[in-house]
Amino acid sequence: MSSLFDSWQRQINYLRISVTDHCNLGCVYCSVSSLPHLHRSEILSYEEIERVVRAAAGMGISKVRLTGGEPLVRPDLSKLVSMIARIEGIDDISLTSNGILLARYAGELKEAGLSRVNVSLDTLKEDRFKRITGGDRLKEVLAGIEAAHQAGLEPVKINVVVLRGINDDELLDFARKSIDQGWHVRFIEFMPFGTPGSEDLETFATQEISERIQSLGRLEPDTGPAGNGPARYYRFPGAKGTIGFITPMTEHFCATCNRLRLTSDGQLRPCLLDEDEIGLRAILRCGADTEEIRQVVRQAVAMKRECHQLNGGVAPQTVRRPMCQIGG
Ligand code: 5AD
Repeated sequence: MSSLFDSWQRQINYLRISVTDHCNLGCVYCSVSSLPHLHRSEILSYEEIERVVRAAAGMGISKVRLTGGEPLVRPDLSKLVSMIARIEGIDDISLTSNGILLARYAGELKEAGLSRVNVSLDTLKEDRFKRITGGDRLKEVLAGIEAAHQAGLEPVKINVVVLRGINDDELLDFARKSIDQGWHVRFIEFMPFGTPGSEDLETFATQEISERIQSLGRLEPDTGPAGNGPARYYRFPGAKGTIGFITPMTEHFCATCNRLRLTSDGQLRPCLLDEDEIGLRAILRCGADTEEIRQVVRQAVAMKRECHQLNGGVAPQTVRRPMCQIGG
């Protein structure tokens, strides 16, 4: 099996694929209502995505995550999952979803070959859910989480973006879920991307989250649930679930970066926080063969910098491309 390394000897084995920029929610820190959606013709077809994954799999990419927008609003996502599941060398297919459509699709996704799912959920309160996401759909998300468990899409991880003054009073409620219900809860530091309308949102540092939730008990370091990401895991004594911390703001994790991103309109993006991209769509549509696709993948890997710039006092950048086209 081939391996893919960048200039800093990091092994790149993980591809995150945004399958659509559409979403059935409009979260304060993510949605950009002033920007038009991509046209259908701009978005890669499932066949095009499959060609990219097949080429990348032969180079050492073994893990794929489907993201959005909300990936489950794209019709027949299970079909893409089954196409990717058939590719030799791919041993882990995961999904990041807001959970709304999971109750409907969890079973067929599992059957198609999806391994596991991460659900984004920033509040457990209905009125607040509406304020953060613009939708009155918390019950559907909770049903989706339940359905994911029932379908065996394990481990199910819950991503909580912590926003000062908005949901930081729910840290204990989320932490308790890891004890009472076995949830794997990951607290994510909010990254200010300059999304219009999110200027007032403030990061809540992991250190402070950790101190607050330890009023429930002492957190013990833990290997955590299976995954490919930068979370550091802990567990309350006797808890079935875990607590993860993702610290893009207070402690970057570039040294262990293992990923490339494919945007919904077919650009390979070496880093979430770096505007550099390299186009794949045009060559795919000109009938590029596997070797030509691989050359672009190699170029994208070569473009990976040692470290991004969103750290310690550096002014928040305004990302030209909204999060919903990159997929987090
Ligand atoms: N800062 C931190 N996390 C974010 N996410 C989306 N936007 C931001 C942001 N500005 C999270 C989503 C999702 C994960 C992929 O990234 O909640 O769970």
